[in-house]
Amino acid sequence: MKMNVTCIPGDGIGPEIVTEAKKVLDKVCAVFGHEIEYKDILMGGCSIDACGEPLTDQAIADAKAADAVLMGSIGGNTSTSPWYKLPPHLRPEAGLLKLRKSLNLFANLRPAYLYPELKDACPLKEATGEKGFDMLIMRELTGGLYFGDRKTEEVDGEMVATDTLVYKESEIRRIAVKAFDVARKRRKNVISVDKANVLDSSRLWRKVVEEVALDYPDVTLSHMLVDNCAMQLVKDPSQFDVVLTENMFGDILSDEASMITGSIGMLPSASLNDSSFGLYEPSHGSAPDIAGQNIANPIATILSAAMMLRYSFNLDKEADAIEEAVKEILKDGYRSVDLMPKGCEDKFTKTTCSQMGDLIAGRITNC
Ligand code: NAD
Ligand code: IPM
Ligand code: MN
Repeated sequence: MKMNVTCIPGDGIGPEIVTEAKKVLDKVCAVFGHEIEYKDILMGGCSIDACGEPLTDQAIADAKAADAVLMGSIGGNTSTSPWYKLPPHLRPEAGLLKLRKSLNLFANLRPAYLYPELKDACPLKEATGEKGFDMLIMRELTGGLYFGDRKTEEVDGEMVATDTLVYKESEIRRIAVKAFDVARKRRKNVISVDKANVLDSSRLWRKVVEEVALDYPDVTLSHMLVDNCAMQLVKDPSQFDVVLTENMFGDILSDEASMITGSIGMLPSASLNDSSFGLYEPSHGSAPDIAGQNIANPIATILSAAMMLRYSFNLDKEADAIEEAVKEILKDGYRSVDLMPKGCEDKFTKTTCSQMGDLIAGRITNC
């Protein structure tokens, strides 16, 4: 198969981790007889520096013209980088939000799975025990607080800032359908997370999700308030199969879920619309604190590349090969520093970002 992939290396550790994902994809192509043509585009801080804005119209056009987009991460240190002195619509994150909206990527799938090989790296090893966990967070990505009207103004002699949380029935319905569809291929359980005890948007969310559930009698639906969900994720993550939630709650809960897999460096993501097109990126950010040191964990990006093969190109065997290679490397004790539990360092082989890419690429086989 010939694939056209637009790459967004981005900022911070972005270029380092995308290089490793490409290395693994190139090996997949060599082993399985495919071809990928890459085109790199700028987004985030690097685009601000080069073009004066975080995402140009040309870059959006290049992303749209591809079969899929593979991304690293964007942004800088929000306290010290000069990018954060710019007006909000010219900051790095505005580029990512514009891209998600322009491509209508309303469904963000963030699978959090505890590799048995990483049990020792999970800070909750006592709670997860032998059960482990395997959940998929289905995060709504183009609505809610991120895209409602916002303003900062002076009222009665003081500054007042307003962000609006808006959800249309149609936006809730389409993400709920995605969640139930994916649940059918998993353990047939959806937990919808909201704040229906306070927010109107959550009460509408619940009503629409219940309507959608009527078309899926084989899938169990329950509701959970978001504050309780944050607690339950730590208490017993094995209770979750598909977690369906709105944009902001999904952002926060997915970082929490990532850490109990061993590290935020393990959590991939796919952002999808109703076509086979998708944007694939790790859930973590540009990690400015470790950028340029070749110590970042590239696995979330490599697993995002596997999701790309699965969701945009229907190449399940190839995606399985990447996931299997990751498993083998972890089993053999290779660990980036974020996956080394304190006091256990001598049990593992400390592995750099580029070594991790080499090792995973080296284990890709067609069998
Ligand atoms: P972050 O996810 O970049 O980093 C949080 C912590 O996790 C840091 O200590 C970092 O070193 C560590 N970390 C993250 N990824 C890692 C990896 N692959 N390997 C090892 N350690 C890793 O979050 P932050 O510091 O809050 O944000 C930094 C910048 O990233 C901000 O500008 C933010 O807006 C941006 N951001 C971008 C995305 C994205 O591009 N999708 C996502 C989240 C944050
Ligand atoms: C993520 C990030 C983004 C988000 C930021 C960078 C806009 O945190 O992809 O999780 O909040 O969606
Ligand atoms: Mn986030």
